[in-house]
Amino acid sequence: MAKKIIITIDGWSSCGKSTLAKQLARKLGLVYVDSGAMYRAITLYFLRNHVDWTSHREVTKALGLIHLDFHFNEKTESSEIFLNDENVEYVIRDLVVAEKVSDVAAIREVREFAVAQQQKLGSKKGIVMDGRDIGTVVFPHAELKIFMTADNAVRVERRFKELFEKNPNITIEEVKNNLEMRDYIDSHREVSPLRKADDAIVLDNTHLTEEEQFQKALNWAKEKSR
Ligand code: C5P
Repeated sequence: MAKKIIITIDGWSSCGKSTLAKQLARKLGLVYVDSGAMYRAITLYFLRNHVDWTSHREVTKALGLIHLDFHFNEKTESSEIFLNDENVEYVIRDLVVAEKVSDVAAIREVREFAVAQQQKLGSKKGIVMDGRDIGTVVFPHAELKIFMTADNAVRVERRFKELFEKNPNITIEEVKNNLEMRDYIDSHREVSPLRKADDAIVLDNTHLTEEEQFQKALNWAKEKSR
């Protein structure tokens, strides 16, 4: 029987990390965890409850009131995030959340809160997790680490299409600015900035189809599962 491994997928915003992670999880019978959804859900809570995240006291108090959970949805065949028992999988994709999430994710207490839960989810192995610091900080000993990248224009176009379906008022400029801003903050923050782990394999999907990218990653995963 194949070994249950940990696969980490890190990289820039809108590189298709979650698409690949879900495909690998389904094919290999692993659990998929979207770590970005956790930072988005925390940001949603802070916004809704007017938490002043420049205040250490307020952040700590708010984190004590946040309970995050993932539930598998049989219909969509993927896991969805719950914030204090409310399904927030869709609302966290809103640009209002995307505009603030990188500031919130840069806060040390927020990262400690999220990372502890991520490590617990992976304690039994058999997991694919995507994010920014999964191969460097959350699971530094993962069997397979992938670092995804793609040309900026391609990433903007992909995210624009996705968001436009839900909100036809959105402009390509807004999407572009948001991606650039998040990538900048994510890679320049003091606590666990986005960077490629030394032992991660780079996957540039600018010129790859989803299927080509999947086959490459699947081969790497099979090698590591032997
Ligand atoms: O992956 P996604 O784009 O949904 O992540 C949203 C944001 O959450 C990122 O831009 C980043 O600020 C933060 N994030 C993080 N560390 C992770 C995953 C996401 O800082 N492991």
